[in-house]
This record gives sequence, structure tokens and C-alpha cells, in this order.
Amino acid sequence: MTEAARRILLVGFMGSGKSTVGPELARALGWTFLDVDQLVEAERGRSVAEIFAELGEDVFRADEAELTERCLRRDRVVVASGGGWPATEGRMEGTPEGTLTVWLRVTPEEAVRRALSASGERPLLDVPEPIEEAEKLLSARVDFYQRADVEVDTNGHTVDDVSALILERITLHNPRSQAE
Ligand code: S3P
Repeated sequence: MTEAARRILLVGFMGSGKSTVGPELARALGWTFLDVDQLVEAERGRSVAEIFAELGEDVFRADEAELTERCLRRDRVVVASGGGWPATEGRMEGTPEGTLTVWLRVTPEEAVRRALSASGERPLLDVPEPIEEAEKLLSARVDFYQRADVEVDTNGHTVDDVSALILERITLHNPRSQAE
């Protein structure tokens, strides 16, 4: 990212805070917040868990790819991607010009705690040993997440803290981004 950011793409594991930090960040920037999972649910008229159970993960992944691409065509948006979206070769590098990617880092333990206490269902963590599953998934994805332009640790931080930290990083990363 060399030019001013026109959109922010939040990436990170389930429970990393993309859907809670995103609206706060969008509000601070005066931009629009878009949540890919919610858009997929709205298009299908079913929850993510229902899509996984009734149509299969492949259908969800195709919808997710399509909706993410559509979101990334817009300007002045903060986009919360699904936790699995970056884990396909070429995606993190292939975001359109003007996209600043931000990785919200979280430990597997904290991710599971947040994901299972939040209202949203996570079919991939709906297993007998969710922490082990989170460790496995996270270790397979970390290489993709770490390709983000900016990374922020969310463990032990509130939504406001993380949002403020991202704004700070954006300013440092690109002094013009907030004035756009
Ligand atoms: C997934 C993460 C979820 C959702 C789906 C699959 C994943 O999104 O897209 O349950 O593969 O990590 P969040 O990261 O918003 O929970």
C-alpha cells in the first residue's frame, strides 16, 4: 500500500474482533462497515451454520469469495472478511489498489472464548475440542494472515482500544489516509 487507503480489509481468525472492531473503526473514519458473513447470510436467507449444514462448506466459500470481491470494489468501507477467506493463495496479495489489510491477532484460547460466547455460530468450532481445532486452523492460516499490511494484537484489549490502535497504525502507515 503506497497510496492513501480507500478501504480497510480486516482479516483474522474467528473471534479476533473483526465484526466488533469494524463498525467502531468505520464510525471513526466516517466510512461504511460491511461484514461479509452477514452479507452471505442475507443473500441466502440462512445463517452461516445453516449454509454449512444444508448446502455445504463449498457453497459458503463460493459465496464468501464473490461477496468479498464485491465489497472490495467499494471505496470508504471497512470490510470484515470471514476468518477463512485469506487462506487461499493469491488473495492477500490480490486485493484491489487502495486496500489496506489489517490482521487482528488473537490466541486460540481467546478466540474460542470469544467465538463461543458471542451470538454468532461458528460451525468450524462446533466440535468436542474447540481449542485444539482452533490451534490447528490457526497454524494453517497464520502464514496468510501475516501478509497483512498492518497487524494488531487484540488479546486483553477492548474494542475501543483495538480501533484506536488501528487508527494510530493507519496514520503512521499512511499519514494521508484519515484525511481522505
Ligand atoms: C470461518 C469464519 C467465520 C465464518 C465461517 C467460517 C472460518 O467468520 O466465515 O464460520 O473459516 O474461519 P468469522 O471469522 O467472522 O467468525
